[in-house]
Amino acid sequence: MLGVCYYPEHWPPERWAEDAERMRALGLSYVRIGEFAWSRLEPDPGRLDWGWLDQAIETLGRAGLKVVLGTPTATPPKWLVDQHPEVLAVDKEGRVRGFGSRRHYSFSSRVYQREARRIVTLLAQRYGQNPYVAGWQTDNEYGCHDTTRSYGPEDLRAFRTWLSARYGTIEALNQAWGNVFWSMEYRSFEEIDLPNQSVTEANPSHWLDFYRFSSDQVVAFNRMQVEILRAHSPGRFIVHNFMGYTPDFDHFKLAEDLDIAGWDSYPLGFTDMDVLPVSSSDKIRYAHSGHPDMAAFHHDLYRGVKPRWWVMEQQPGPVNWAHHNPSPAPGMVRLWTWEALAHGAEVVSYFRWRQFPQAQEQFHAGLNRPDFQPDVAFFEAEQVAQELAALALPPTQPAPVALVFDYEADWVYQIQPQGEEFRYRDLVWLFYQALRRLGLDVDFVRPGGSLEGYRLVVVPSSPILRRPMLEALDTTPAAVVLGPRTGSKTEALGIPPELPPGALQALLPLKVVRVESLRPGVELEVAWNGQRYPCALWREWVETGLAPKGYFPDGKGALFQQRHLHYLAFWPSLDFLQAYLGYLAATLGLPVQRLPEGLRLRRRGPWTFAFNYGSTPQPAPAPSGARYLLGGPVVAPYTLSIWVQE
Ligand code: GAL
Repeated sequence: MLGVCYYPEHWPPERWAEDAERMRALGLSYVRIGEFAWSRLEPDPGRLDWGWLDQAIETLGRAGLKVVLGTPTATPPKWLVDQHPEVLAVDKEGRVRGFGSRRHYSFSSRVYQREARRIVTLLAQRYGQNPYVAGWQTDNEYGCHDTTRSYGPEDLRAFRTWLSARYGTIEALNQAWGNVFWSMEYRSFEEIDLPNQSVTEANPSHWLDFYRFSSDQVVAFNRMQVEILRAHSPGRFIVHNFMGYTPDFDHFKLAEDLDIAGWDSYPLGFTDMDVLPVSSSDKIRYAHSGHPDMAAFHHDLYRGVKPRWWVMEQQPGPVNWAHHNPSPAPGMVRLWTWEALAHGAEVVSYFRWRQFPQAQEQFHAGLNRPDFQPDVAFFEAEQVAQELAALALPPTQPAPVALVFDYEADWVYQIQPQGEEFRYRDLVWLFYQALRRLGLDVDFVRPGGSLEGYRLVVVPSSPILRRPMLEALDTTPAAVVLGPRTGSKTEALGIPPELPPGALQALLPLKVVRVESLRPGVELEVAWNGQRYPCALWREWVETGLAPKGYFPDGKGALFQQRHLHYLAFWPSLDFLQAYLGYLAATLGLPVQRLPEGLRLRRRGPWTFAFNYGSTPQPAPAPSGARYLLGGPVVAPYTLSIWVQE
């Protein structure tokens, strides 16, 4: 269940056999290679040098490792860029993004599509049937470095084609976007530009379609690679390594073409960089362990994206790219590995075998130091390998709670926040943290996905509700908590004619007649169940015959319920969510446990895991008579315990 990322091209070939043997001795099974090696595979246009890769795969395979081969399309070489400068992406300000790092291509460039097809085909033909190649990784981290959206001539051309396929006629587009406003009407698709250069904000409908188009371009680029790999490499799996919160393309859609969703987990870097927002005090408290929900959120998200999922890159020590790059507390690499396995990861693969003492990532640790000696994480990985050898992990099971995660919602609120701090990411994160602090396991579900079997469903906010989702919400026996602005938008990003929550009114008879956004510091309170909860940022005015369950200070309704459906007409605080979701979950008979700071739980089959991200020992919240498989009744800082109930 363990693997490593390796760059044979960084090291003399005489080292490879010893490296491979040490990987096996450590207990690793998978090795990912090749994803940035284009300049070594094709040093000059059309001159392929397979020799070194043949030898590397052979050496690793003979040692007993299963190779995951990456396609090198994240790094088009210099000669390609010089021959075809039109492959380069263009940023929002209209500047061409240059050569000299990675991901400098546009998904819409026809020349780049052709070149990518060519190199992937050559690779797949050569290694598709290689007995040591177990699977393929497409490209590397789509969207990294803000590369999903590009604003050049090739992007414009493809966008017009996409719009014409979506709307059929220009009249339909004008109508959908409301282009009569400010004389924005077009006479043909050829008149439409990209939305980045307008004087003041461009039409939000224009932006949303551009976001949708950009997402589709990533999906199509990946699909092109997948089709080639499937044709030439039957029986091998295909994975992509997704990133920490990068909503720019729809991962659910892209993963339909994959066998496995990989993701790259860097808990300390993510905590320092607010990949999900962390308070300043928690940044200090968890500087060496990572926010206790940071990795878990993504494990659950990517398990929702694809039932088979890996951690393709696991942080092994300090990284180089955050504002600050602390060293993980001793034990954390082991803890992170176990937490991924507890959430159902099939494989955890460390980034990387050895620290390369040159170029951009020279400060980034690996399992081994540049002087060829093992580094701290080497021994922690070894410990996990030994622990895994002694324990047979039980299968995972669905969680009792579902969180409906909506990529398009993120785009809608980026385009029209209406109040600066209204970020989809932050709202989802609040719901998730509240559930984790209550000791509950959570599954992520795509909008319209099945809600069968869940007892509690949270929808942090889904502005555009389509029929499958409405039906799922209507028919689920679960209690459903809907956040603010759910149902507030039409497909083309207008306000629904019947007012928000649009078609949801058929299930929940209420109408949002006004909204306001508030700057941080402007007070707003919600009273529920005899308690007052300070809230912030967003409030709605609701007309309804329903009697409110919670109130704003002016006596107007803030919280409504009919049947199993609950609606929050405000941006909830973490305290409120913990109280409200805790109350609902307890009513439903779910195993609510209010956890101390830094401690988190996760179940896998009959096993319960407790992880201590904090610096003080915590009693394991286990029933009496629990039998410990790992650790014991006190969870020391930066360690875990696993128990089964006898
Ligand atoms: C990932 C990337 C790797 C490496 C790593 C460093 O985002 O996929 O290639 O750059 O970060 O932490």
